[in-house]
Amino acid sequence: MPYSDEIEKRRTFAIISHPDAGKTTLTEKLLLFGGAIQVAGAVKSNKTARATASDFMEIERQRGISVATSVMGFEYNGYKINLLDTPGHKDFSEDTYRTLTAVDSVVLVVDCVKGVEEQTEKLMNVCRMRKTPVIVFVNKLDREGKDPFDLLDELEAKLSIKVRPLSWPIGMGTAFKGVYNLYNKSLYLFRSGGLTRTDDVMEIRDLGDAALDRQIGDYANKLREDAELVEGAYDDFDRQTYLAGDLAPVFFGSAVNNFGVKELLDTLTTIAPPPANRATNVRVVESGEKNFTGFVFKIHANLDPRHRDRIAFVRICSGRFERSKFFHHVRLNKDIRFTSPVSFMAMRKSIIDEAYPGDVIGLYDTGVFKIGDTLTEGEKFMFQGIPSFSPEVFKLLVNLDPAKSKQLNKGIAQLTDEGVAQLFTQQQGSRKIVGTVGVLQFDVLQYRLEHEYGARCRFEPLGIHKACWITSESKADMDKFVRFKSDRIAEDKDGNLVFLAESEWALRNMIEATPEITFHFTSEFKREMQNSGPA
Ligand code: G4P
Repeated sequence: MPYSDEIEKRRTFAIISHPDAGKTTLTEKLLLFGGAIQVAGAVKSNKTARATASDFMEIERQRGISVATSVMGFEYNGYKINLLDTPGHKDFSEDTYRTLTAVDSVVLVVDCVKGVEEQTEKLMNVCRMRKTPVIVFVNKLDREGKDPFDLLDELEAKLSIKVRPLSWPIGMGTAFKGVYNLYNKSLYLFRSGGLTRTDDVMEIRDLGDAALDRQIGDYANKLREDAELVEGAYDDFDRQTYLAGDLAPVFFGSAVNNFGVKELLDTLTTIAPPPANRATNVRVVESGEKNFTGFVFKIHANLDPRHRDRIAFVRICSGRFERSKFFHHVRLNKDIRFTSPVSFMAMRKSIIDEAYPGDVIGLYDTGVFKIGDTLTEGEKFMFQGIPSFSPEVFKLLVNLDPAKSKQLNKGIAQLTDEGVAQLFTQQQGSRKIVGTVGVLQFDVLQYRLEHEYGARCRFEPLGIHKACWITSESKADMDKFVRFKSDRIAEDKDGNLVFLAESEWALRNMIEATPEITFHFTSEFKREMQNSGPA
């Protein structure tokens, strides 16, 4: 197959949602359609982790599973689909955000009963910042949910994105009859529990057609009215606007009933973008370039002492990755080759000989990788857009064994390189504050510091709400601010100044009161300033 076709046929995306909206169910149904799994139940829901989060071995078991499901590759209709998992629930972490830097588009699942929830908003902020194209799947139509027009308004208001329904629900809850696909002008009748059969789908180009009344009776007129309202209220679907991240097409369905899932997959393969070009600090790398490039967006360390391996997940941006070929590790200025690279197809890890743009491969890591590291065929640049995100849970790191402070410092330095957490220091480094975006990270840190570095520690809660990176045009203004707020200022690992806000209110006040200081919500200031970052 020509190289350009290899790129053209790839679709790399992630599903994002608030816990319980149906991400696991939808993932599983997509894998079933793609033939990647044969039976339902193969994709582990995060639920077990939630129920037993206090049991560390259970967390570890779940983490083990999460490697297998980190990337789910499968073939569908001639396309190579790479579905990347975004850990949710207690496992919600910077990894979740960073996964979004490795995909070309996302599917957002919303529960029609609950509407847009907090975690969805956070994840969408990252998508908006990166201009990632989004398709919305409104799930659980078999339940009595919110009015579809209200839901669409809520999506637009809470996610700050224009939406365009491409299908429309007929009834809801126990009266759910199916959807009318406004795009391909077909009626899809709902069949609870079973797969949509061929005779459940019929083309009805004109909604005035009496066939509609025969199929859905009294619901036909309501559908006609709704469709007219939709056509009046929303612009026509425009793929370019979707690809620019400015318009989200919306589908309605019921994942657990397999309803609307195939249409979603068909639409995704048709309209979602193939591997995109990517910015570096030097130039834009086009996915069609012949030379291999890629970056590390996630590092997974096995906690089992018998298998202490680390896997660096690399998103390929251009060229062909080849097993055992030397590639250039830009940060270390060193050529390295990888003899056992793995890919993740049909939920199985297997050694591969080659991979293409859009693919995610796992490289066994002996400690040479940091999040954001770039691999090339010799050229020197770093991919942009893999920032650290402002943490949300903060604790003071207390050393329980002063004789082991060297080990503790080394451990915390390495684990923060891996992206497990972020470290902020105050008072010339003597006060160490650890920040994460999910609570589970503290258990993981404590366990790993003790088992891998022999360092015992404790974490004490702190009254910090958010850490924002700060910059100023004027050194004098910054010096004044740092003096004035010294107890709230810390440095990140790279020596950048950070403001530790005690509450949302205090942060807003501070932003207003000190216009000479700029507050950033990701560590990548320049990009964020261009694109207006998450609030
Ligand atoms: P998540 O990964 O986003 O957290 O959600 P997950 O797929 O685990 O789904 C959460 C719950 O919602 C599950 O029920 C699942 O069966 C249910 N669900 C998913 N899609 C639909 C749908 O289209 N309609 C309805 N009515 N329910 C749906 P559960 O009772 O928590 O778990 P289970 O016992 O069913 O596995």
